[in-house]
Amino acid sequence: KRPVGAPDKGLARPVTKVGVVGAGLMASQLALLFARRLEVPVVLTDIDQERVDKGVGYVHEQIDMLLLKGRVGQDQANRLKALVTGSLDKATAFADADFVIEAVFEEMGLKQQVFAELEAVVPEHAILATNTSSLSVTEMASRLSRPERVVGFHFFNPVAVLPLLEIVRAEQTDDASLATAFAVSKKLKKTSVLVKDAPAFVVNRILTRFMGSVLASIDEGADIRTADRALAPLGLPMSPIELLELVGPAVAHHVAGTLHAAYPDRFAVSPNLGRVVAAGKRAFYLHDSGRPELDPEVLALF
Ligand code: 3HC
Repeated sequence: KRPVGAPDKGLARPVTKVGVVGAGLMASQLALLFARRLEVPVVLTDIDQERVDKGVGYVHEQIDMLLLKGRVGQDQANRLKALVTGSLDKATAFADADFVIEAVFEEMGLKQQVFAELEAVVPEHAILATNTSSLSVTEMASRLSRPERVVGFHFFNPVAVLPLLEIVRAEQTDDASLATAFAVSKKLKKTSVLVKDAPAFVVNRILTRFMGSVLASIDEGADIRTADRALAPLGLPMSPIELLELVGPAVAHHVAGTLHAAYPDRFAVSPNLGRVVAAGKRAFYLHDSGRPELDPEVLALF
């Protein structure tokens, strides 16, 4: 059955090589998923060799884990490792890429610059996708000469586990690009939903409301430990603060900022979360021993 709003699948173009811009955690997870499900070469790029090597190293570790768990055999593991490579030279690496997805830092100017660089090196037919959490895909594409090939392709962490994929149609996106995005999503075995290009799309809007309500109660004086544990009996897979950690304090703060800018009366940015980000904290918990405990340095900020 065709997903709601998906164009005729006959319009989809083949994807035989994938590029990933950014080699951070999200990008590396994406590289592995594309290689595993599409079985095509995937090239990871970043701004320096160290980052690229780290990204490819993460992918190889994850493949070793899949092998250990018996999810892939030795031959497939070897094949997957050979499919995922790193490069600093986008012009050569992406000259024959059909689908390039960016997962760089959440900043409009940077993402526009990445897309402009990509437009200069990818083939005419290539799709340019963004994994942005909350930024306008229409604005991101607006400075390109061929903005109609830009789509939002928003995954959820952990990418290998969560089935949802939000596909964002920007104002300029054409049917062939959208059809290709849906065809790729199907091969990735994701459940895709077409969403409008509205701030934070659908899921992050809801999650920001959820995490924001918990943060607001803490901002108003609730103890973070109590607020974090209070929802446990509901059987959620993670507590709100665990979820904030998974999303990343900086990303959660950024998404809240985007929503606050768009709807100041409906969304706020938590001052406590702002302090965690300003202190450079990437985690709320200490994970070094047994059961994770809230980090005393984080507690001191609240
Ligand atoms: N990376 C890769 N795989 C992971 C992982 C990770 N970070 N965390 C867990 N997994 C895998 C495990 O390896 C395991 O795989 P297996 O079945 O092959 O062994 C499987 O997930 C289940 O893991 P566990 O048994 O250890 O743990 P749980 O059953 O508690 O599940 C969870 C972990 C899937 C992360 C679950 O807690 C969950 O679904 N949490 C909610 C996550 C969520 O809401 N994410 C959305 C965040 S919003 C977002 O990403 C959007 C962005 O724009 C901000």
